[in-house]
Amino acid sequence: MPDTHPTSCPDAFLRETLDSLQDAGLLRSLRNLEGAPGPKIVVNGRPALLLCSNNYLGLATDERVKRAAREALETYGCGATGSRLISGNLEPYATLERELAGWKGREAALVFPSGYQANLGTIPALVGPGDAIFSDALNHASLIDGCRLSRAETIVYSHCDAEDLERKLATRAGARRKLILTESVFSMDGDLAPLEDLVFLARKYTALLMVDEAHATGVFGATGAGLVEEFGLQQQVDVQMGTFSKALGSLGGYIAGSRELIRYLIQKARSLIFTTGLPPSVVAASTAAMRIARTEPERRAALWRNVRQLRGGLADIGFSFGPSQSQILPLLLGDERKTMAACCFLLKHGAFVQGIRPPTVPPGTARLRIAPMATHTEAEITEALDSFRQLHELLDSPKRRASRQTAASAPVFSK
Ligand SMILES: Cc1ncc(COP(=O)(O)O)c(C=O)c1O
Repeated sequence: MPDTHPTSCPDAFLRETLDSLQDAGLLRSLRNLEGAPGPKIVVNGRPALLLCSNNYLGLATDERVKRAAREALETYGCGATGSRLISGNLEPYATLERELAGWKGREAALVFPSGYQANLGTIPALVGPGDAIFSDALNHASLIDGCRLSRAETIVYSHCDAEDLERKLATRAGARRKLILTESVFSMDGDLAPLEDLVFLARKYTALLMVDEAHATGVFGATGAGLVEEFGLQQQVDVQMGTFSKALGSLGGYIAGSRELIRYLIQKARSLIFTTGLPPSVVAASTAAMRIARTEPERRAALWRNVRQLRGGLADIGFSFGPSQSQILPLLLGDERKTMAACCFLLKHGAFVQGIRPPTVPPGTARLRIAPMATHTEAEITEALDSFRQLHELLDSPKRRASRQTAASAPVFSK
């Protein structure tokens, strides 16, 4: 057959895309970590303090959590081997969901294979064409992808801005259903959603409110259940979402809410129905981690102590963190290459803090995302501060020196 089309390689776009990402300073690569994600780690053969993990309470390596996983592995084997709706709903799920619902102050809970899947399945189950979603401008990709999949109209409101949200709610009075979506602790900025205002607006405009507690679970609230617990809003937040993969050191997403909501999601959430359940060892680890997080407030106290030491030390050096009020301390550098160079510099000086670039954060806001753990010692935080001091000497400029005063006085949330 004559060749009527210009011959081009069908996968040429792969190289072109990689090259253009490289040119823009946005190429990502996987960095190998050796050993368990404890307070110290070996990265590409180099020992370093781990200061960018979500293992906030250090539970990923807790002996009791590991033992629970080992015992479940022996009892139930390696995998669930089926969707939870077919043959994968093994016994450890019931225990986890019962205790989780109690912790979250709700009637029922449902465990998904990951937090990403919880968002991806729940949002399209709740809303669709003809409905309106009101989504915070800095919401996590899993919430954004859930919106896209739902085919509902998605209206983005300014970050943490209840007035803008209200203006936008008022324009969609005719929508069939309305859903307000927010994180409680924002994953890349560490600031907190105005939950009381959102509850008020949800009631006023007859909207459902879904709150993603991925980075608040285990960290905020009297028993560590999250920021919703901290504000006493368990009954007012219709859909409490979270994950076991961060402060609880395991894996699996969840939704907590009314019994009807959970029964409904079992019918409608495709990311629950059409995928294999989590291995029972993982489910048992989550249950053990949740019990520890709930009953050992001293872990939270240790985390907040480390946050205060790190935050105070970094502010003294001259760094600032924008509106962060949590354990997540974003050190904004703006430029992508500068951010990755700072990451490499810190690693050479014994601290592993990953650089975060677009599209994870908006263009021009590349940053080092610093997060200490409860299990770091005071001496380790002091050691890390030495590395940051050296970094600051490299980056320092008169403008940065002038902003020192304001950084030191920023509040850490009531801790
Ligand atoms: C705010 C937020 N929601 C959801 C997720 C997804 O959770 P998981 O890692 O369990 O899939 C993340 C994880 O990065 C997150 O930061």
